[in-house]
Amino acid sequence: MASSPYQVLCVCLGNICRSPTAEIILKHYVKLAGLPVEIDSAGTSNYHPNKAPDPRTQKFARASGYDLSHLRGRQVCREDFDQFDLILAMDDTNLSDLQWQINHLVQKGELDASVMDRLALMSEHDPKFSRQAIPDPYFGHASDFERVIAQCESAAQAWVEYWQANPNVLRRQP
Ligand code: 4NP
Repeated sequence: MASSPYQVLCVCLGNICRSPTAEIILKHYVKLAGLPVEIDSAGTSNYHPNKAPDPRTQKFARASGYDLSHLRGRQVCREDFDQFDLILAMDDTNLSDLQWQINHLVQKGELDASVMDRLALMSEHDPKFSRQAIPDPYFGHASDFERVIAQCESAAQAWVEYWQANPNVLRRQP
């Protein structure tokens, strides 16, 4: 029996700028490589439920050939910690917010502490911006939105190369 695709969740604060960009760019490179990986995104906050990505994010992504218009914002929920094999934080605050949420659920006896091992930074393997945060562009300028795309492209290609070199990572229990 074929196992189900490896599940990746991209996480930022609002789920309207960085994580939807990361989702679409990661999907693009995963598809090019033909890897069995499914990708979604969410925010640690509930600031923009059901909202389309920020118009500036959409504009700069479109200029680079990525369509984000069909995506809608949502907050990370408890079920995400069951579903996703890998949860990619865009910056260190997103990472510590996720760690706090997981710790809280572990302490209540609702989650296994091993879920913590599924957390990583989007930039984990990125050779150009190694383990650097993808800075929040929300209160920034055009160059900040362009930088999000450049970092997501570099980081996503690095994850795809990592999975190609370590295909066992993608093997899930059926
Ligand atoms: P994101 O950017 O976390 O990359 O989606 C933000 C979007 C909205 C806000 C902050 C950051 N906000 O404060 O509403």
